[in-house]
Formats: sequence, structure tokens, C-alpha cells
Amino acid sequence: KKILLLNGPNLNLLGTREPDVYGATTLADVERQCTEHAARLGYALECLQSNWEGALIDKIHEYGRLYKSGEALGCVFNPGAFTHTSIALHDAIKGVDGLPVIECHISNVHAREAFRHHSWVSPAAAGIIIGLGTNGYLLAIDALVRRAA
Ligand code: DQA
Repeated sequence: KKILLLNGPNLNLLGTREPDVYGATTLADVERQCTEHAARLGYALECLQSNWEGALIDKIHEYGRLYKSGEALGCVFNPGAFTHTSIALHDAIKGVDGLPVIECHISNVHAREAFRHHSWVSPAAAGIIIGLGTNGYLLAIDALVRRAA
């Protein structure tokens, strides 16, 4: 079975982008660690990062179909700044009806600017991991596996 690791805008810059906030780990490091972690648990990880809202929506739709056919376990999703703006991502997750999505934020958005306190994605998410750095992605994979057990 497959798990999707989905990262939204600007997360391709991880490692060099505001390292005091997001740390020194690159997206390539995250994807490698998560791929190894998922493999240890018996799952194949597919990774996609996009700066384009529509590409993220298309991928959620694809995994909605894979979930229904029993080929996917769920999705770990850091929507980046689209978290705070995108009703379309909320609707995509609601629209595929069933795909478990764990929303994941590297930084503690609640300890930051007020405009980061609201998430359009959270009401559609199966669960949320916030503020645990890039370790949060690994914890989100664990959460998907455990909720299916
Ligand atoms: C983020 C938090 C968002 O507010 C921000 O726009 C990001 C990254 C995080 O992982 O902490 O791009 O989702």
C-alpha cells in the first residue's frame, strides 16, 4: 500500500528558508527519512512538493481514488501558506470523502503571527501535528499506520 507525502508552497526551500523557524533539514532529507520510515512499516511512500494549489488538489483526488480501491493508506500533508487561504484544499479533502489526511506543520503556527492561527484544512483533516519540527512528518506516518491497525 502507498502513503502520500504532500508538501505545499515554499517547502522546496526547506533547509535554507528561515532556518531559525524551519530548521536545517532539507526537503530531500525529509523525503528520504520518511521513505525509509514508511518502508520499515511496510508501506511505499510517494512524495510530491508543489508550489501550485491545483497540482496539490489533483494529487488529493488521485489518492482519494487509490484509497477507495484499497491501494493507499492515507496522506501526510503540509499545505504551507495555503493552510491559511485555501478553501479549495479543504473542499478537495472533503470531496474525496474518506482519504485520511494528517495535516502537518513544522513550526508551531499558534506561537507565530495571528494570520497563521486559522487553518482551512484542519476541519477536513483526520488529525493534526504542529510544532514538532520535521520529526512531525515521521509521527504523522506513524499516526496513519496506527489508525488503520
Ligand atoms: C508551515 C506553516 C505555515 O504558516 C507557513 O506558511 C509554511 C510552513 C509549517 O510547516 O510550519 O509555509 O506550514
